[in-house]
Amino acid sequence: MTSNINYMSGVKGLKDIDVTGKRVLIRVDFNVPMDDQFNIADDRRIRAALPTINYCIDHNACSIILVTHLGRPKGTYEERFSLRHIQKRLERLLQKRVEFIEDFEASKAEISSCSLERVFLLENIRFYEGEKKNDPDLSRKLGEICDVYVNDAFGTSHRKHASTYGITEFVQTKVAGFLMMKEIEAFMKALEQPMRPIALVVGGAKISSKITLLSSIMPKIDKLIIGGAMSNTFLQALEYDMQASMVEEGFVETAKKVLEDARLHKVKVYLPVDVVITDSVEHPIDVKVVPAQDVLEGFKAVDIGPATLKLFSEAIHLSNTIIWNGPMGIYEINTFSRGTYKLASAIADCYAYTIVGGGDTADAVEKAGEKENFSFISTGGGASLELLEGKILPGFERLDRIDS
Ligand code: 3PG
Repeated sequence: MTSNINYMSGVKGLKDIDVTGKRVLIRVDFNVPMDDQFNIADDRRIRAALPTINYCIDHNACSIILVTHLGRPKGTYEERFSLRHIQKRLERLLQKRVEFIEDFEASKAEISSCSLERVFLLENIRFYEGEKKNDPDLSRKLGEICDVYVNDAFGTSHRKHASTYGITEFVQTKVAGFLMMKEIEAFMKALEQPMRPIALVVGGAKISSKITLLSSIMPKIDKLIIGGAMSNTFLQALEYDMQASMVEEGFVETAKKVLEDARLHKVKVYLPVDVVITDSVEHPIDVKVVPAQDVLEGFKAVDIGPATLKLFSEAIHLSNTIIWNGPMGIYEINTFSRGTYKLASAIADCYAYTIVGGGDTADAVEKAGEKENFSFISTGGGASLELLEGKILPGFERLDRIDS
């Protein structure tokens, strides 16, 4: 049976077509974090799209039309989500003039003129109500301004929206950009042709958000390392009293099933043996390290402890492929970030193929100063999770295929 990853790797890429003299619409994911003054805090996603944009420029596409969302506006204009804030950075990175288009329908003639080689950046596509509804009318209008559609928005490829999915009905030539292909190749290496043993390290707040992943990936992995707040639910399933820690009570039985499933698949499970606890997350007065069985009354577990870090580090050092998704604690708060950062360094030190998915985890790796020491850092959060869950991502689903 063909896996989801194998299926997705069979789409045509930019090099399979000729873009010379064509109007090329590239769906990118420029959903980047910005502060209150609209300074871009992390431009990794913009940089990741440059090879595709530059390829189209170098191969004489006549108009390059960049379409993206930014944030989660509700189908109407909101200044803080305007793509105007991105235009300058993009110009600097491309070293080329980028024309901002506020209303692509009103500027249709200009975008379509093809008189000169021009790069256009359209206003946030989520300012249109039809985007998230995958409205055929919006898809058609986008289709009308281009000859070629390139999807390079890996971070948004799990969304069935007008610019990521519906548009494919209205454009004859539709292919994947270099980033999409690079992401697929990286996950292919980790899951389809892996060097074993494979360790999956999961963390983050909720077991509920990772349950599909945990049940679908079990046959493919050898070790399952669980940290972060979601491990509290597993520890509660082992009848530890987690006191005031975040526990998803409704998922304690699910956690027991995951542990049973792991046993059936002969997957070794590693859970925290000690935890950092605090009396308050916002205003901590008392912070201690205790065995996972001894969380004090009224206290919350907020990070993994040093013994757990040692245990996890030893488990991953004996792995040849390590997939990491989700922080080990509330790493955004300095006092509780140690477990996540130290684990990032421990994974980075392994002689293994190391791959990171999830916005928070990628951010933690960067802050730990280990970005260069991982084999691959995915630009997708939800998208990489759904890919690991075994799903065919809608952003790949209707692209042209090599075998047809
Ligand atoms: C992301 O940041 O994960 C992507 O850009 C998708 O954004 P969304 O979750 O708002 O669809």
